[in-house]
This record gives sequence, structure tokens and C-alpha cells, in this order.
Amino acid sequence: MNKLEYYLSHPVNINMARGIPSSELLDLSNDMLDVLTSKTNFINHDNIDIRNYGSLDGIKEAKHLFAEILNTNEDNIFIGGNSSLNLMFDLISKSFTHGVCGNTPWSKLDKVKWLCIVPGYDRHFAITEYFGIEMINIPFVNGDPDMDLIEEYIKDESIKGIWSVPQYSNPTGDTYSKKCIERFAKLKPAAKDFRIYWDNAYGIHYLDKYEPIDDLLSLCDKNGNPDMVYMFASTSKITFAGGGIAALAASKNNLEDISNHFKRQTIGHDKLNQLRHALFFKDKEALLKHMDKHAEILKKNFDYIESAFEKEIKDLATWNNPKGGYFICLKVDHKAKEVIELCKKCGLTLTDVGSCFPYHKDPANSYIRIAPTSLNEEKCKVAVEVITTVIKSLK
Ligand SMILES: Cc1ncc(COP(=O)(O)O)c(C=O)c1O
Repeated sequence: MNKLEYYLSHPVNINMARGIPSSELLDLSNDMLDVLTSKTNFINHDNIDIRNYGSLDGIKEAKHLFAEILNTNEDNIFIGGNSSLNLMFDLISKSFTHGVCGNTPWSKLDKVKWLCIVPGYDRHFAITEYFGIEMINIPFVNGDPDMDLIEEYIKDESIKGIWSVPQYSNPTGDTYSKKCIERFAKLKPAAKDFRIYWDNAYGIHYLDKYEPIDDLLSLCDKNGNPDMVYMFASTSKITFAGGGIAALAASKNNLEDISNHFKRQTIGHDKLNQLRHALFFKDKEALLKHMDKHAEILKKNFDYIESAFEKEIKDLATWNNPKGGYFICLKVDHKAKEVIELCKKCGLTLTDVGSCFPYHKDPANSYIRIAPTSLNEEKCKVAVEVITTVIKSLK
């Protein structure tokens, strides 16, 4: 019996479809649960009782934490609930019902279009698809989104936004270059309500060393485009994916517009969790020490996968060796569907075919997102053996 026959008759039951933290990664934050006790001083720096209603935009201490994470000014931060994706969804929803900063609500327009950097994050595309927004693919060119194409498309007033994951992108692992970020800041969209959705979900998820990207918000400001960007981050993969905090950073004008919406939606988000996070990460040094521990754990699987791919499928596929983030992006020209389906028959669940593209349409049927973060060493090795065995069997 060859290896493929073995796995087909002994399915492995491993799921590496989603970028989920492992228990080992989650354990790194367990002490945070002991930070708040009945003896904690619940009156914060701003003389606010954390236990009570209020502080719609979040407590100062949490804003400070996210200013470090997003490498921006804390006065521009709005703290949300436990999910940055939720903030993005809400902003798009609000844009349809009430418009952006006094502009016509998108529901009253004939057409709303959106630029999607591909391959990209499937849940971003799911939001724009849900709202019936027409999505347009923008490919990467040498690790940066095709900025020429973006500059051309935004001359169309119906283009209202763009999804972007600027650092350790999901799933390509690319970090946009300094020059590219500057070009984003200088965009001159025809639509006044065009917004860059700058989702820096992996900004401090380095595998080797901390290398923050430039603050697009202040660059936009310098270039006369103060309102053009919303930046997002969360602690979902820093502390607990099910109990973190999320934030956005935006101009004063945008923050006012956003708060005007949120004040109808909630009296305030969970300030106890905000305080818990702020006390756990006393300062930037504590935050980065914590992320060093993440990197140490994550690197083992990333290193293993990259060397196994090199050894087994060098001539059959290409992949990135990311410096951070949660994914390895594997490219098997015109065979992604077959590989994903055969892996499934061997008991290994990968992200669905086409997921990294709007409407699930991978034009060249090539991309497979490898999400190794939730697997222990043993399962990771088995998963990689299944993938490489399947790819070799299809050559
Ligand atoms: C690019 C990106 N943004 C957002 C999220 C989800 O973030 P949150 O848990 O804050 O909603 C993910 C999760 O995988 C992601 O990859």
C-alpha cells in the first residue's frame, strides 16, 4: 500500500482550515484572568468607574495599548467589543443605512463597488458579498498590491472602499512596502466617502522580529486625506480569540461620525475586559515579550512546513516563507481544487477552494491557504505529510 492509499484508508481527522490559536498560545494569556480581583481599583486614570455604564469609545488605558499595536496616536482610537471584523461589518452596514460623514447612504445608490486585494481574507469578502457590493480583484505584484490598478479604479465614484491587510497579509504573508503605503496615503478617489479598510490584524505577529509598518492614518493626514482610512486591530490572536478586545483608529471627523452611530447601538463596550488587557500589558515591553513567546511557539510549525515543502514538493508547487502572521500560502497551478478535495478524503480539512478570492473564484485554481497555528507538532507533521503526498500523487 502506498502512502496515499494508506491515508485514504486511515483518514487522519485534522482540521487546518482556519487561522485559530492553539491551546498552547491561548495558555500564554491565562494570567490575564487573574489580573482583576475584588480588590482592584476600578476607578481609572480618567476618574471613570470601569464597572459602570459609559465611555463609548473605550478607556484611556486600552486606547494606549492599541496605539502601540497600531503604531498610531491614542487620540485616534475607538475601542469596540471583542471582534474587529464586527467593527468592519458595522461600518459598512452604517454606510448603507446612514452614509459616511454626511454623504448619500449607499443603499440609495445604483451601484456600490469595492476593491479586493487578492488572494485575501475570505471573511472580508463575505461581508462585501453579503451587502451586495460588487467586488473587483486587485492582484499582488512583487509583494505589493497593484497600486497602478488601484489608482486607476478609484477614479470611478462608485468604488467606495478597499480591503487591505498590510502586514503579514492573510494569506500571502506579504507586508506592503514603505513606498506602497505612501501611495495608499496619496490616493485621490473620486468618491468622497471612499475608505481604505486597513486591517492590521497581524501587525505585531512577527515570527522573527518586531517591524512595525508606518502609520497610514498620519500619512493620509499629511497628504491632505485625513478621513480616507479606517485602521483596525484586535487582541483576538494576542490574548483570547473568544475574549479579546478590538479597536479602530480614524480621524477626528470619522470618529465623530462613527460615535454618532455607535451611541445608538450601545452605551459602551466591556470596560472590565479593556482594563484586564491594559493591566496585563503594562507597557510596550511587556506586550512585545508576550509576542516573542507567541513567535517562539509559532515558528516551530512554520519552519517545519517550509523545510518539508522544500524537501518534498519543490518542483511541484511554490509557497511563501512569511516573516509573520498566521498563514503559509501554497500555490499549485491549476490543481488547488483537486488537492483540497483529495486531502479531505484523507481526513485533512483545508480552507475551501477559492476562499481567498471574492465569490470563491480563484481564476487559476491555484491557491491553498495553509493554517498551521492551531496544530501541535505531531499533527502538523501528519498534515504536511498528507499535503505533500497528495500533491506528489497528482503530478
Ligand atoms: C485579516 C484578518 N482580520 C480580522 C480577523 C478577525 O479578527 P477579529 O477576531 O478581531 O474579528 C482575522 C482572523 O483570522 C483576519 O485574518
